Amino acid sequence: MTGAVKRGAVLSTSGITMIFGGLTALSDVDFEVGRGSITALIGPNGAGKTTFFNCLTGIYRPSRGTMTFSPEEGREIQLRKLAPDRITYLGIARTFQNIRLFNNLTVLENVLIACHSRMRAGILGALLRDGKTVAEEKAMAEFSYRLLDRYGLAASANHLAKNLPYGAQRRLEIVRALATRPRLLLLDEPAAGLNIAETRELDELIRYIRDEEDLSVLLIEHDMSLVMSVSDRVFVLDYGVLIASGPPDEIRRDPKVVKAYLGED
Ligand SMILES: Nc1ncnc2c1ncn2[C@@H]1O[C@H](COP(=O)(O)OP(=O)(O)OP(=O)(O)O)[C@@H](O)[C@H]1O
Ligand SMILES: [Mg+2]
Repeated sequence: MTGAVKRGAVLSTSGITMIFGGLTALSDVDFEVGRGSITALIGPNGAGKTTFFNCLTGIYRPSRGTMTFSPEEGREIQLRKLAPDRITYLGIARTFQNIRLFNNLTVLENVLIACHSRMRAGILGALLRDGKTVAEEKAMAEFSYRLLDRYGLAASANHLAKNLPYGAQRRLEIVRALATRPRLLLLDEPAAGLNIAETRELDELIRYIRDEEDLSVLLIEHDMSLVMSVSDRVFVLDYGVLIASGPPDEIRRDPKVVKAYLGED
Protein backbone atom coordinates (compact mmCIF):
# COMPACT_ATOMS: atom_id res chain seq x y z
CA MET A 1 0.00 0.00 0.00
CA THR A 2 1.72 3.17 -1.16
CA GLY A 3 -0.80 5.75 0.03
CA ALA A 4 -0.13 7.72 -3.14
CA VAL A 5 -2.75 10.22 -4.16
CA LYS A 6 -4.49 9.47 -7.42
CA ARG A 7 -4.07 12.09 -10.13
CA GLY A 8 -6.52 14.88 -9.72
CA ALA A 9 -7.34 14.11 -6.09
CA VAL A 10 -6.76 16.55 -3.26
CA LEU A 11 -7.27 13.80 -0.70
CA SER A 12 -7.25 10.06 -0.84
CA THR A 13 -7.46 7.45 1.86
CA SER A 14 -6.71 3.78 1.70
CA GLY A 15 -7.85 1.15 4.17
CA ILE A 16 -8.78 3.60 6.94
CA THR A 17 -9.87 1.59 9.96
CA MET A 18 -10.78 3.06 13.34
CA ILE A 19 -11.46 0.77 16.25
CA PHE A 20 -12.77 2.02 19.62
CA GLY A 21 -12.49 -0.82 22.12
CA GLY A 22 -14.74 -3.47 20.58
CA LEU A 23 -16.41 -1.14 18.07
CA THR A 24 -15.14 -0.82 14.52
CA ALA A 25 -16.30 2.70 13.65
CA LEU A 26 -14.53 2.70 10.27
CA SER A 27 -13.63 -0.38 8.32
CA ASP A 28 -11.17 -0.25 5.42
CA VAL A 29 -12.37 3.04 3.99
CA ASP A 30 -10.96 3.93 0.56
CA PHE A 31 -12.05 7.43 -0.18
CA GLU A 32 -11.22 10.27 -2.51
CA VAL A 33 -11.94 13.95 -2.95
CA GLY A 34 -11.36 15.25 -6.46
CA ARG A 35 -9.43 18.50 -6.69
CA GLY A 36 -11.87 21.37 -7.03
CA SER A 37 -14.87 19.14 -6.34
CA ILE A 38 -17.70 19.14 -3.84
CA THR A 39 -17.76 15.63 -2.43
CA ALA A 40 -20.40 14.45 0.04
CA LEU A 41 -20.21 11.79 2.72
CA ILE A 42 -23.61 10.51 3.83
CA GLY A 43 -24.90 7.68 5.98
CA PRO A 44 -27.20 6.95 8.92
CA ASN A 45 -26.52 8.22 12.46
CA GLY A 46 -23.49 6.52 13.93
CA ALA A 47 -22.19 5.40 10.51
CA GLY A 48 -18.75 6.87 11.22
CA LYS A 49 -18.86 10.13 9.25
CA THR A 50 -17.62 12.44 12.00
CA THR A 51 -15.09 9.82 13.06
CA PHE A 52 -13.72 9.98 9.51
CA PHE A 53 -13.31 13.78 9.82
CA ASN A 54 -11.64 13.28 13.20
CA CYS A 55 -9.13 10.92 11.58
CA LEU A 56 -8.42 13.33 8.72
CA THR A 57 -7.86 16.25 11.08
CA GLY A 58 -5.58 14.44 13.53
CA ILE A 59 -8.04 14.25 16.44
CA TYR A 60 -8.01 10.45 16.18
CA ARG A 61 -5.19 8.37 14.77
CA PRO A 62 -6.67 5.56 12.68
CA SER A 63 -5.88 2.02 13.78
CA ARG A 64 -4.83 1.28 10.19
CA GLY A 65 -4.65 2.86 6.77
CA THR A 66 -3.16 5.84 4.99
CA MET A 67 -4.46 9.34 4.35
CA THR A 68 -2.72 11.36 1.68
CA PHE A 69 -3.33 15.06 1.21
CA SER A 70 -2.23 16.83 -1.94
CA PRO A 71 -2.65 20.58 -1.43
CA GLU A 72 -1.39 21.15 -4.94
CA GLU A 73 -0.56 19.00 -7.94
CA GLY A 74 2.72 17.14 -7.40
CA ARG A 75 2.83 17.57 -3.61
CA GLU A 76 1.79 14.76 -1.28
CA ILE A 77 1.59 14.75 2.50
CA GLN A 78 0.91 11.75 4.72
CA LEU A 79 -1.50 12.87 7.41
CA ARG A 80 -1.50 9.87 9.69
CA LYS A 81 1.01 11.00 12.30
CA LEU A 82 0.43 14.73 12.18
CA ALA A 83 -1.06 16.86 14.98
CA PRO A 84 -4.29 18.81 14.39
CA ASP A 85 -2.63 22.25 14.28
CA ARG A 86 -0.08 21.00 11.75
CA ILE A 87 -2.87 19.63 9.55
CA THR A 88 -4.66 22.99 9.72
CA TYR A 89 -1.43 24.74 8.79
CA LEU A 90 -0.94 22.42 5.81
CA GLY A 91 -4.36 23.34 4.47
CA ILE A 92 -7.24 21.27 5.84
CA ALA A 93 -9.91 23.21 7.76
CA ARG A 94 -13.14 21.97 9.25
CA THR A 95 -16.36 23.00 10.92
CA PHE A 96 -18.03 21.00 13.67
CA GLN A 97 -21.39 19.29 13.88
CA ASN A 98 -22.15 21.40 16.98
CA ILE A 99 -21.25 25.05 16.55
CA ARG A 100 -17.96 25.88 18.26
CA LEU A 101 -17.51 29.63 18.44
CA PHE A 102 -16.03 31.81 21.13
CA ASN A 103 -19.42 33.07 22.27
CA ASN A 104 -18.18 36.02 24.32
CA LEU A 105 -15.80 37.33 21.69
CA THR A 106 -16.86 39.46 18.76
CA VAL A 107 -17.43 38.09 15.29
CA LEU A 108 -14.20 39.76 14.09
CA GLU A 109 -12.20 38.37 17.05
CA ASN A 110 -13.47 34.89 16.25
CA VAL A 111 -12.04 35.19 12.76
CA LEU A 112 -8.79 36.79 13.96
CA ILE A 113 -8.10 33.84 16.26
CA ALA A 114 -8.52 31.46 13.36
CA CYS A 115 -6.07 33.57 11.31
CA HIS A 116 -3.39 33.08 13.95
CA SER A 117 -2.62 29.61 12.62
CA ARG A 118 -0.90 31.47 9.74
CA MET A 119 0.94 34.13 11.71
CA ARG A 120 4.73 34.20 11.52
CA ALA A 121 5.59 36.50 14.40
CA GLY A 122 4.96 34.04 17.22
CA ILE A 123 4.78 34.71 20.95
CA LEU A 124 8.00 36.77 21.17
CA GLY A 125 6.85 39.14 18.44
CA ALA A 126 3.46 39.46 20.10
CA LEU A 127 5.11 40.39 23.40
CA LEU A 128 7.66 42.80 21.96
CA ARG A 129 5.17 44.26 19.50
CA ASP A 130 7.90 45.08 17.03
CA GLY A 131 7.11 46.77 13.72
CA LYS A 132 6.87 43.53 11.79
CA THR A 133 4.35 42.06 14.22
CA VAL A 134 2.19 45.17 14.22
CA ALA A 135 2.18 45.20 10.42
CA GLU A 136 1.27 41.52 10.34
CA GLU A 137 -1.58 42.04 12.78
CA LYS A 138 -2.91 44.91 10.72
CA ALA A 139 -2.82 42.80 7.56
CA MET A 140 -4.63 40.01 9.41
CA ALA A 141 -7.37 42.33 10.63
CA GLU A 142 -7.88 43.61 7.08
CA PHE A 143 -7.96 40.09 5.69
CA SER A 144 -10.50 39.04 8.36
CA TYR A 145 -12.70 42.00 7.70
CA ARG A 146 -12.66 41.36 3.94
CA LEU A 147 -13.68 37.75 4.59
CA LEU A 148 -16.56 38.87 6.80
CA ASP A 149 -17.62 41.32 4.13
CA ARG A 150 -17.53 38.67 1.41
CA TYR A 151 -19.75 36.38 3.49
CA GLY A 152 -22.27 39.02 4.57
CA LEU A 153 -21.10 39.35 8.16
CA ALA A 154 -19.25 42.69 8.10
CA ALA A 155 -22.16 44.58 9.65
CA SER A 156 -21.93 42.23 12.65
CA ALA A 157 -18.13 42.38 12.97
CA ASN A 158 -18.26 43.97 16.41
CA HIS A 159 -21.22 42.00 17.78
CA LEU A 160 -20.67 39.18 20.21
CA ALA A 161 -20.80 35.84 18.42
CA LYS A 162 -23.50 34.57 20.79
CA ASN A 163 -25.84 37.37 19.69
CA LEU A 164 -25.81 36.35 16.02
CA PRO A 165 -28.87 34.52 14.69
CA TYR A 166 -28.28 30.77 14.43
CA GLY A 167 -27.88 30.77 10.64
CA ALA A 168 -25.26 33.52 10.84
CA GLN A 169 -23.38 31.59 13.54
CA ARG A 170 -23.18 28.64 11.16
CA ARG A 171 -21.85 30.98 8.46
CA LEU A 172 -19.29 32.42 10.87
CA GLU A 173 -18.03 28.91 11.56
CA ILE A 174 -17.36 28.50 7.85
CA VAL A 175 -15.66 31.91 7.65
CA ARG A 176 -13.44 30.92 10.59
CA ALA A 177 -12.43 27.80 8.72
CA LEU A 178 -11.70 29.84 5.58
CA ALA A 179 -9.54 32.23 7.62
CA THR A 180 -6.94 29.48 8.00
CA ARG A 181 -6.58 29.59 4.17
CA PRO A 182 -7.30 25.93 3.53
CA ARG A 183 -7.04 23.98 0.30
CA LEU A 184 -9.63 21.48 1.52
CA LEU A 185 -12.66 22.44 3.60
CA LEU A 186 -14.50 19.83 5.67
CA LEU A 187 -18.07 20.70 6.67
CA ASP A 188 -19.81 18.52 9.27
CA GLU A 189 -23.58 18.92 8.84
CA PRO A 190 -23.56 22.62 7.98
CA ALA A 191 -27.32 22.60 7.26
CA ALA A 192 -28.27 21.21 10.68
CA GLY A 193 -30.88 23.50 12.21
CA LEU A 194 -31.19 25.77 9.16
CA ASN A 195 -34.56 26.62 7.62
CA ILE A 196 -35.32 26.14 3.93
CA ALA A 197 -34.23 29.63 2.88
CA GLU A 198 -30.99 29.38 4.88
CA THR A 199 -30.29 25.96 3.39
CA ARG A 200 -30.70 27.40 -0.09
CA GLU A 201 -28.20 30.15 0.80
CA LEU A 202 -25.82 27.50 2.09
CA ASP A 203 -26.09 25.65 -1.22
CA GLU A 204 -24.96 28.84 -3.01
CA LEU A 205 -22.29 29.50 -0.42
CA ILE A 206 -20.71 26.06 -0.86
CA ARG A 207 -20.60 26.47 -4.63
CA TYR A 208 -19.17 29.97 -4.22
CA ILE A 209 -16.42 28.59 -1.98
CA ARG A 210 -15.50 25.95 -4.53
CA ASP A 211 -15.55 28.31 -7.50
CA GLU A 212 -14.34 31.63 -6.12
CA GLU A 213 -12.03 30.50 -3.31
CA ASP A 214 -10.77 27.70 -5.55
CA LEU A 215 -11.16 25.10 -2.83
CA SER A 216 -12.20 21.48 -2.60
CA VAL A 217 -15.08 20.75 -0.26
CA LEU A 218 -15.96 17.59 1.65
CA LEU A 219 -19.45 17.73 3.07
CA ILE A 220 -21.15 15.54 5.68
CA GLU A 221 -24.86 16.18 5.48
CA HIS A 222 -28.24 14.64 6.26
CA ASP A 223 -30.21 17.09 4.11
CA MET A 224 -30.54 14.98 0.97
CA SER A 225 -31.86 17.74 -1.25
CA LEU A 226 -28.74 19.80 -0.47
CA VAL A 227 -26.44 16.81 -1.00
CA MET A 228 -28.04 15.84 -4.29
CA SER A 229 -28.04 19.43 -5.55
CA VAL A 230 -24.52 20.49 -4.65
CA SER A 231 -22.31 17.39 -4.85
CA ASP A 232 -20.19 16.20 -7.72
CA ARG A 233 -19.78 12.83 -6.06
CA VAL A 234 -21.36 11.10 -3.07
CA PHE A 235 -19.89 8.41 -0.80
CA VAL A 236 -22.16 6.37 1.47
CA LEU A 237 -21.06 4.92 4.81
CA ASP A 238 -23.08 2.33 6.71
CA TYR A 239 -21.79 0.92 10.01
CA GLY A 240 -18.29 2.10 9.13
CA VAL A 241 -18.26 0.45 5.71
CA LEU A 242 -18.41 2.34 2.41
CA ILE A 243 -21.30 0.77 0.57
CA ALA A 244 -21.48 3.02 -2.49
CA SER A 245 -19.95 5.96 -4.28
CA GLY A 246 -20.87 7.82 -7.43
CA PRO A 247 -22.65 10.82 -8.89
CA PRO A 248 -25.80 11.93 -7.00
CA ASP A 249 -28.21 10.52 -9.59
CA GLU A 250 -26.69 7.06 -9.33
CA ILE A 251 -26.59 7.13 -5.52
CA ARG A 252 -30.20 8.16 -5.30
CA ARG A 253 -31.22 5.01 -7.19
CA ASP A 254 -28.72 2.58 -5.67
CA PRO A 255 -30.79 -0.11 -3.91
CA LYS A 256 -28.14 -0.60 -1.18
CA VAL A 257 -28.24 3.10 -0.36
CA VAL A 258 -32.01 3.29 -0.41
CA LYS A 259 -32.17 0.34 1.97
CA ALA A 260 -29.48 1.61 4.36
CA TYR A 261 -30.36 5.21 4.44
CA LEU A 262 -32.86 6.86 2.23
CA GLY A 263 -35.73 4.63 3.37
CA GLU A 264 -37.63 2.24 1.18
CA ASP A 265 -40.92 3.37 -0.27
N1 LIG B 1 -14.21 8.57 20.97
C1 LIG B 1 -15.04 7.54 20.78
N2 LIG B 1 -15.03 6.46 21.61
C2 LIG B 1 -15.86 5.43 21.42
N3 LIG B 1 -16.76 5.37 20.42
C3 LIG B 1 -16.83 6.40 19.57
C4 LIG B 1 -15.98 7.54 19.70
N4 LIG B 1 -16.28 8.42 18.70
C5 LIG B 1 -17.26 7.85 18.00
N5 LIG B 1 -17.59 6.64 18.49
C6 LIG B 1 -18.59 5.72 17.96
O1 LIG B 1 -18.32 5.52 16.58
C7 LIG B 1 -19.52 5.40 15.85
C8 LIG B 1 -19.56 6.41 14.76
O2 LIG B 1 -19.79 7.70 15.33
P1 LIG B 1 -19.77 9.03 14.46
O3 LIG B 1 -19.94 10.16 15.41
O4 LIG B 1 -18.58 9.03 13.60
O5 LIG B 1 -21.08 8.86 13.57
P2 LIG B 1 -21.73 9.85 12.50
O6 LIG B 1 -21.82 9.11 11.21
O7 LIG B 1 -21.01 11.14 12.50
O8 LIG B 1 -23.22 10.03 13.08
P3 LIG B 1 -24.20 11.30 13.13
O9 LIG B 1 -24.89 11.35 11.79
O10 LIG B 1 -25.16 10.96 14.22
O11 LIG B 1 -23.37 12.50 13.42
C9 LIG B 1 -20.66 5.53 16.85
O12 LIG B 1 -21.07 4.25 17.24
C10 LIG B 1 -20.02 6.28 17.99
O13 LIG B 1 -20.65 5.98 19.21
MG1 LIG C 1 -21.51 13.05 12.99
